[in-house]
Amino acid sequence: MAEQFLCSNLSAGENGRLYFAGQDTQELARRYGTPLYLMDEQRIRERCRTYVQAVKTAFGGRGRVLFAAKAAAFRRMLAIMAEEGMCADLVSPGEIWTAARAGFPLERAWFHSSNKSDEDIAFAMEHGVGAIVVDSTEELFAIDRIAAERRVQQPILLRLTPGIDPHTFEAVATGKVDSKFGFGIETGLAEEITRTALSLCHVSLIGFHCHVGSEVFDSDVFLRSAEIMLRFIAMVKERYGYEAGILDLGGGYGVRYLSDQPDIDIAANIMEVGAYITRRCAELGIAQPEVAFEPGRSIVADAGLTLYTVGMVKRIPDIVNYVSVDGGMTDNIRYALYQAPYTVLAAGKLSEPWDLRCTVVGRCCESGDIIQPDVALPASIRRGDLLAVCTTGAYNYSMASNYNRVPRPPIVMLNEGESYVAVRRESLDDLLALDE
Ligand code: LLP
Repeated sequence: MAEQFLCSNLSAGENGRLYFAGQDTQELARRYGTPLYLMDEQRIRERCRTYVQAVKTAFGGRGRVLFAAKAAAFRRMLAIMAEEGMCADLVSPGEIWTAARAGFPLERAWFHSSNKSDEDIAFAMEHGVGAIVVDSTEELFAIDRIAAERRVQQPILLRLTPGIDPHTFEAVATGKVDSKFGFGIETGLAEEITRTALSLCHVSLIGFHCHVGSEVFDSDVFLRSAEIMLRFIAMVKERYGYEAGILDLGGGYGVRYLSDQPDIDIAANIMEVGAYITRRCAELGIAQPEVAFEPGRSIVADAGLTLYTVGMVKRIPDIVNYVSVDGGMTDNIRYALYQAPYTVLAAGKLSEPWDLRCTVVGRCCESGDIIQPDVALPASIRRGDLLAVCTTGAYNYSMASNYNRVPRPPIVMLNEGESYVAVRRESLDDLLALDE
């Protein structure tokens, strides 16, 4: 069985039970209840170290790694990121506040988002974020005005759209020319906004940003976007005499949700990007900018696992079998939104044959509340059994909701044989906390 596991933090005990980060999932479910988000702290730290080390090696200290907090934003996570020397990509006052309350040094954070209100901008400046990534003309003028009122010069990057199709699912492809994000290079909008930014007195343009998509497996996507961005930087240098100090290539490295998906060697990929950028900068006659990456999913996805308890097993002869769990689209909306694949395991019955094809569904009053269709589980699966859904560390908790007034699960961190609650389970009273 072991060699079939997606990730090295999964293993089978002799009792046929699933172990995660070396701990018995049955025991954890008994102790903390279900549904339950588990996170492997060492795995998160290893991923951070892989990125930080690779970027250091590839760019000789002139690089940075920003954790895209949208993948998993809670206080303990931001504290771990701070300890690992990561920078952060934050997209709302909520994420800025979470980072601030985690003791994250906000000068190491950049404020993104495709639509920032004046209040958001002022909030970010007040909390001392390192830079703001500008996504629209309105926003650029608003930042300049608010910075003038505060008598500061605000460092900014401009978000550009390199016009690349990253071949991922449509909802997370963000760098194509028709994207709502950023300023298109081929449409001329990028040049125009650069000219405007350079003419304003209260913003200081420190570089350019792009992010072409998420869950990307094409290994050359970063090279292709780097090429387009570097050519743009060279053009701006030639026409306007401005040389960008930072090139941010965004996030997007894909992770394996199924065992037949490829396993990207992130360190090797970053080294390749580094060599490419060095060579192309020399050829284009520009100084090599500091290079930034913004990984979210690839830092936390396989550090996460969700445990559920089976409720009903409904067999509709010759049509479909349903196995229903005590969570669902409220804690994992990714299949409902993107038809995202997941690996589902019968956490207490690993040694039995898995001969029942079934659709694993959630508890919500919604036919689309599906965790995963067409999975194999043991035919003996029944009420009270434990199910594990793997690779749920990214965009599960952060996209969770209270639909049907279902409380959100806790996040329990696993670290070197110990476990602790990082986010407690929502109570029924929490659900009423905002009701007047
Ligand atoms: N930087 C920017 C500007 C982004 O928009 C994103 C993701 C990232 C970095 C991080 O990308 P990552 O390394 O995590 O792929 N909710 C979707 C994913 C949406 C991603 C949006 N932007 C999902 O559950 O798959």
